Amino acid sequence: MDLIQLRQTYPRPQPLLVLGQQLRKQHSSEHAIWLLQQLEMYWDALRLEAFRQPLHLHFESQALQMGSRWPLAERRARELFKRFPQARLLEIGAGIGGDSLELARTREFRAVEQEDGRRLYLEHNLRVSGFARVEVCGGDGLNQLEGVQLIYADPARRNAKGRQWHDLSPDPLALWGLGLPCCLKLSPGLDESALPTGCDLDYVSHQGVCKEAVAWTPGSGKVRAHLHQPNGDWLVAERRPAPPCIDLLPGMWVHEPDPAAIRAQAWPVEGGRIDESLALLATPPGVVSPWTQAFEVLEIADADRKNLVQLQKKYDFQPLEIKKRGFEVEPEELRKKLPRGRTGGAGVLYLTRVAGRHRALVCRRPAQA
Ligand SMILES: C[S@@+](CC[C@H](N)C(=O)[O-])C[C@H]1O[C@@H](n2cnc3c(N)ncnc32)[C@H](O)[C@@H]1O
Repeated sequence: MDLIQLRQTYPRPQPLLVLGQQLRKQHSSEHAIWLLQQLEMYWDALRLEAFRQPLHLHFESQALQMGSRWPLAERRARELFKRFPQARLLEIGAGIGGDSLELARTREFRAVEQEDGRRLYLEHNLRVSGFARVEVCGGDGLNQLEGVQLIYADPARRNAKGRQWHDLSPDPLALWGLGLPCCLKLSPGLDESALPTGCDLDYVSHQGVCKEAVAWTPGSGKVRAHLHQPNGDWLVAERRPAPPCIDLLPGMWVHEPDPAAIRAQAWPVEGGRIDESLALLATPPGVVSPWTQAFEVLEIADADRKNLVQLQKKYDFQPLEIKKRGFEVEPEELRKKLPRGRTGGAGVLYLTRVAGRHRALVCRRPAQA
């Protein structure tokens, strides 16, 4: 059985022991191990949405973990084309092609990858995806700038703890220093004050997680949140001043914005903040938005342990969801101290701050209400 047949036969995770024994009857033990690793990484790629069509691709574990999710890579490639349709593009540090495969759908360009093993997989992946015309080079991309008019890079972290630009490779400062138009995929935890003046910044979320911050130079200083929809569309919300704090009352809905909207300070529903240090918004009941998870507030109460026990006795939630924002508590530890509910249906104990005070919000998710 070759790799493609193996992936087609086992499209979902399986125990590998028996499969490994079968493969070793047909292949050398080294090749059988490679096949199993490629099969496992294929399952990961599908789960992570790491590549649009991963069936024929070759993966390398670290490069796969670092790789872009394809809907995000697609959005970026399209935006790059929209902003700079004609410019000669160089991708510095292409890995195994998470971005290259989407860039290749929009334009011709050159991709550089300094690690030889990865570069071979990159070439393979481009070829089997029908993009053999992408020029792939080895070595340091920063030394291959002749004729280049536009740069894309998704720098890798040199060391797991590093939080500075120079801990990234290629180094964003070196790239911005070239003075060429540039799109860099960076960590959403970046320090915005260290970005070039006037760049545009996109915070992008996927599967409920803010996955990346994309910096565009030159730009006009816009900061936006991008939210991937299940149907493939993107929603965009722009940074705006924080809305004022308002009084939270039972019956109102509290909204927890998507993480990209929080990072972008996009305040994606019309409402007031419940606390000036938090990104939680309160609205009248019935406000629904794809940008937020909403909670109908049934009661606002003291959040000491004794009172939490009383609240759970009163509402008898089962299942009970415990959430926290701006509140030091270990939800699973707290759960052990609360009575187990039976008949109250699903409910949420939201431990947070309201107008500077620690409070417990007894809530239901509106669909459960
Ligand atoms: C985060 S990975 C890129 C992942 C890729 N965007 C994807 O989605 O699959 C960064 C890659 O840049 C390569 N790299 C780092 N500095 C480089 C340089 N100066 N020239 C060429 N490649 C470089 C690393 O070897 C690594 O494979």
